Amino acid sequence: MFNKLALKIGLLFFLVILIIEIILFYILYTNLVADRVEEVMGDLLARGNTHRDVLEENYTTTTLEHVAIMESESDFIAVITDENGKVIISSDPVEPEMKTVIEHTDYDEIPQEGAILKSNWSEEKYVSTDSPLTFNETHSGHVFMFAESDSIERIIDHLSHKFWLVGLLTLLLTVITVFILSKVITQPVLRMKKATEQLSRGNHNVELYTHRKDELGDLATSITLLSQDLERLKNERNEFLGSISHELRTPLTYMKGYTDIISRKEISTTDRNRYIKIIQEETEHLADLIKNLFELAKIDHNKFAITKERVVFSALIETILARIRPALNEKKIELFFHCPDNLVVLADPERIQQVILNILDNAIKYTPEKGHITIEVIQNKNEILTTISDTGEGIPEEDIPFIFDRLYRSEKSRSRVSGGSGLGLTIAKEIVELHGGEIEVDSTLGKGTVFVISLKKENVNE
Ligand SMILES: Nc1ncnc2c1ncn2[C@@H]1O[C@H](COP(=O)(O)OP(=O)(O)OP(=O)(O)O)[C@@H](O)[C@H]1O
Ligand SMILES: [Mg+2]
Repeated sequence: MFNKLALKIGLLFFLVILIIEIILFYILYTNLVADRVEEVMGDLLARGNTHRDVLEENYTTTTLEHVAIMESESDFIAVITDENGKVIISSDPVEPEMKTVIEHTDYDEIPQEGAILKSNWSEEKYVSTDSPLTFNETHSGHVFMFAESDSIERIIDHLSHKFWLVGLLTLLLTVITVFILSKVITQPVLRMKKATEQLSRGNHNVELYTHRKDELGDLATSITLLSQDLERLKNERNEFLGSISHELRTPLTYMKGYTDIISRKEISTTDRNRYIKIIQEETEHLADLIKNLFELAKIDHNKFAITKERVVFSALIETILARIRPALNEKKIELFFHCPDNLVVLADPERIQQVILNILDNAIKYTPEKGHITIEVIQNKNEILTTISDTGEGIPEEDIPFIFDRLYRSEKSRSRVSGGSGLGLTIAKEIVELHGGEIEVDSTLGKGTVFVISLKKENVNE
């Protein structure tokens, strides 16, 4: 089956090769023909010269007859004339065309070693040469040699025949080569086309085995990687949807349960108030979760605009500290804060506040009463480093690589109590990365956790 691409490539190759072959064959053919004609003419002249030499040695009637008899048996015609072009003897009857040649020859022009008179075989009936006879340095006659142009034509025909044969063979080989070549080139492309069709149909497990080291090999590897990425994304999406529905269902279950209890008549006021408080908390939790999900969705669709401006960093953090003060007091957590007064950063103040608040919120949540939280801001040549450390329970080592993942919570049962949804750090990381910065974590179980946010300095002094 000849698919379209193979046909196109094949035809193109074929045409190019065909043109090259025709040009080369033409050059070779014309050269060979010219060589053959030259050879025949050379032979004819040499033959005439030999007769002339014999006659110069021995110019007798016997010798003349001898020459005539000899040539009458050959394909050539010898005509011997006197110095005025009058025919003395000839091997074959002298035809009018021969006569014209003999009469129109300018005898003075012919050199001693003879000359080719007519070599235009395609137009003349005969090709001819002239070898002048000289006795005692006196011009005394001519040996004209004629050969029928047909004989040259036969040689050329023979040559053409061979050329056709070789030409057809070359054409056949070219077609076969082009066919194989176009198949070799298009086969992997077709396989990749099929693979991408499978991808679009939802089959993401596409493996394109190729050992090619060229661009096609690279493309095949890229498609395989793409299919793996798609598969991973599909799994992640399914997992995420699963977690989301779980996250949404849990508070709703609580709310439904407690509203059912409240609606009973026999319930005491204290219990009712307690349950209402739980419902309020769950509602808040649900609202937070939806708000965070919405933020993440905006980040995913690149609709999360960052508007950078020059902000005094210490003032920015002080605002957050004022907000979390009640929570700190409630847990009797001591907070230390160091930041150079004059430090100005180029950032979106609201978003950076959100990042620091998320991290501090965790620190408060996961630090027991009377613990410590330290915020330290330092700057080096290129970066501003904000370190937030706590003396809390820490994160298990195996959980550390995942805490920035969506909906990830270390020790799920525990987090229900602390009320988190596992989106705070995901959002924090996205925001920091949108600022061109990085966020890192280091934690020791039972001792505490350290988060480091590094932001680029970005010519803030300009
Ligand atoms: N300072 C910390 N100390 C101990 N564990 C932490 C700390 N910060 C984060 N973690 C762990 O990382 C998990 C992910 O944190 P993240 O802020 O993303 O979610 P969350 O606090 O549970 O919920 P959310 O912030 O969405 O309300 C937390 O559930 C917690 O297990
Ligand atoms: Mg959090």
